[in-house]
Amino acid sequence: MKILVTGGAGYIGSHAVRRLLQYNYKVVVYDNLVNGHKESLPAEAELVVGDLNDKEKLDKLFKEHEFDAVMHFAGFIEVGESMKNPAKYYKNNVVNTLNLLEAMVNNNVKKIIFSSTAALFGYPDEIPIKEETKKEPVNVYGRTKLMTEQMLKDFDAAYGLKFIALRYFNASGADFGIGEDHNPETHLIPIILQVAMGKRKAIKIFGTDYLTKDGTCIRDYIHVTDLINAHVLALKKLLSANESNYYNLGNGNGYSVKEIIEAAREITSHPIPAIKSKRRSGDPAVLVADSTKIQKELGWKPKYDLKAIIKSAWEWHKNNPSGFEENIN
Ligand code: UFG
Repeated sequence: MKILVTGGAGYIGSHAVRRLLQYNYKVVVYDNLVNGHKESLPAEAELVVGDLNDKEKLDKLFKEHEFDAVMHFAGFIEVGESMKNPAKYYKNNVVNTLNLLEAMVNNNVKKIIFSSTAALFGYPDEIPIKEETKKEPVNVYGRTKLMTEQMLKDFDAAYGLKFIALRYFNASGADFGIGEDHNPETHLIPIILQVAMGKRKAIKIFGTDYLTKDGTCIRDYIHVTDLINAHVLALKKLLSANESNYYNLGNGNGYSVKEIIEAAREITSHPIPAIKSKRRSGDPAVLVADSTKIQKELGWKPKYDLKAIIKSAWEWHKNNPSGFEENIN
């Protein structure tokens, strides 16, 4: 089986590539390396450097390989940036995904696993969040992902393209000797670990007046390995059952920002100074997944708790203080 992995040199994509290779899938990565790191890829994965806006290159790629399915990780992910520069997000996350879907249909490749997000749900009207929970994204990033889910549904109805959309909650942690290396980094756990490493003076807590147990936001942190294990299960299901579906993907446990900082203090034995700061716009107070559906239908079960997540991320950061600037292959 040969899988095209878009964004395969990024944080989650590169972990998926390693797991797919372990399961003996052949892997071709298509990545423009704008945010991805070629050093995150093992030699067995073929890398084609290209952009999803390059329709000719995409079509050639599909003609040169016989793909059985696509895993589509490529996309921009920064909520704040999406509000300041919506054009960048609509172009890359929506228009470029449309290019990919058209290339798939034109070349008769009709199975795709799509990286969706909890950001679809905006300020959710129920917790934990189910697949059917009302979807009203409150930022451009979430809207681009909801639009893509709608495109997928329409492509299924019209062209028989089958998809599984996996709606990630807060992906974190590291595995396979690779890890999270965004520039600039905006995510909570890596920033906290940068403080522990002495790269930053303190962590700013964005909002301490939320209606939560300690006033800080609650999120559902899921280990990247649990996340990619779900991708492999979804892929197997898609290849065998040929049915489209949507799944929420989180651990089902909510932790506040203060709890994450406290856990990181214990694991790193560093005081990690924290500064109260004002709310970041567009942050819902609580996002916790109900992942019962994927557990029941695909037999997925999260294996890693918060401690394991932070420990694995800490290992990666300690061993790679400059991220992928040091060659890890
Ligand atoms: N936070 C801080 N200080 C920081 C960074 C973050 O207090 O320096 C807080 C945020 O306000 C939020 C929590 O930590 O309450 C988690 O923030 P992240 O930026 O790590 O993650 P988000 O929950 O904002 O978003 C992440 C992904 C999105 C995805 C979303 C789904 O970045 O792509 O999870 O839940 F859509």
